[in-house]
Amino acid sequence: MSINILGIESSCDDTSAAVVSEGVLLSNVIASQAVHCAYGGVVPELASRAHQQNIIPVVDQAIKQAGITKDQISAVAFTRGPGLLGSLLVGTSFAKGFALAANIPLIEVNHLQGHVLSQFVHEKDKPENHPSFPFLTLLVSGGHTQIILVKDYFDMEIIGTTIDDAAGEAFDKCAKVMALGYPGGPVIDRHAQQGDPERFHFAKPHIEGLNFSFSGLKTSFLYTLRDKLKDDPNFIDKNINDICASLQFTITSILIEKLVAAVEQTGINRITIGGGVAANSELRQVLKFEAKRYGWKVYIPERKYTTDNAAMIAGAGYYKFLKKEFVGMDIAPDARLKF
Ligand code: KG4
Ligand code: ZN
Repeated sequence: MSINILGIESSCDDTSAAVVSEGVLLSNVIASQAVHCAYGGVVPELASRAHQQNIIPVVDQAIKQAGITKDQISAVAFTRGPGLLGSLLVGTSFAKGFALAANIPLIEVNHLQGHVLSQFVHEKDKPENHPSFPFLTLLVSGGHTQIILVKDYFDMEIIGTTIDDAAGEAFDKCAKVMALGYPGGPVIDRHAQQGDPERFHFAKPHIEGLNFSFSGLKTSFLYTLRDKLKDDPNFIDKNINDICASLQFTITSILIEKLVAAVEQTGINRITIGGGVAANSELRQVLKFEAKRYGWKVYIPERKYTTDNAAMIAGAGYYKFLKKEFVGMDIAPDARLKF
């Protein structure tokens, strides 16, 4: 019988389930939670409740779309952390219940390792395109901004990280100031496409080594808008495209500068990106441009595999299944899980 892995992802505000069969993705169902939009950020209590409502229909759909039945599932892989504890609890408890009832093994996956391994998600009838080890991953999401040295599937080292806000948080918080709703990244991305990235200048951090900082940029953004609004209360509406383009340009250049430094430091020029911010049009474009300039080999996943999804969890689970890396029923989620 084929090895069929059911993956469950519930670390933040997306409830997702996927089925991977012999390493090939058969289904990937994602229910995003619109409930947070009005609050300008994820409300943990509301996220857990929405996961509770969504998890069974989402899993049911993933199994049906995969064209298999639940008794053909060989193991359940779930996101153990890092993430919001209440959200992680829903996915973890569901995975444990499913594995217990079906008498199949349970596999824990670190959410960040899942993002890194999203590069290896293999769709049927599509050519495989992934880097050889070692490679560097720029992981940029709402909760994380890291450069990871990936030596093997589960042998990874964080060589640069944010000392305050994450890149996605910078997008979301600045969007909130402009009343653009949540998540802010995609809205800023859309406006930026018609804007002038050189029009406004926001502070860039001076942090040693490969670490990032975004809190100074956020403050500089806030103060710039506050000053401009004093002269013209309609300043944001009138300049929204240029403001978004300039902000996006600043965030992208902060990320790229550190990536250039990481390549110099490690001598590794195979690069992947992951996490929600990796869906950003400019970041994707600049990476391709820099790849040509510096002779990097850049692997850019499809947008649907950059934001939170269970395909990456099921895929990582498949590699763990082959190594028989299972966990017991006493496993608990860990909001600050490290690797
Ligand atoms: O990986 P993800 O779905 O969830 C976390 O683990 O955080 O990332 C969500 C983040 C949000 O901050 C969102 O604003 C950002 O990814 N994001 C984007 C874009 N699409 C999503 N940021 C910039 N440009 C985008 N196109
Ligand atoms: Zn994520």
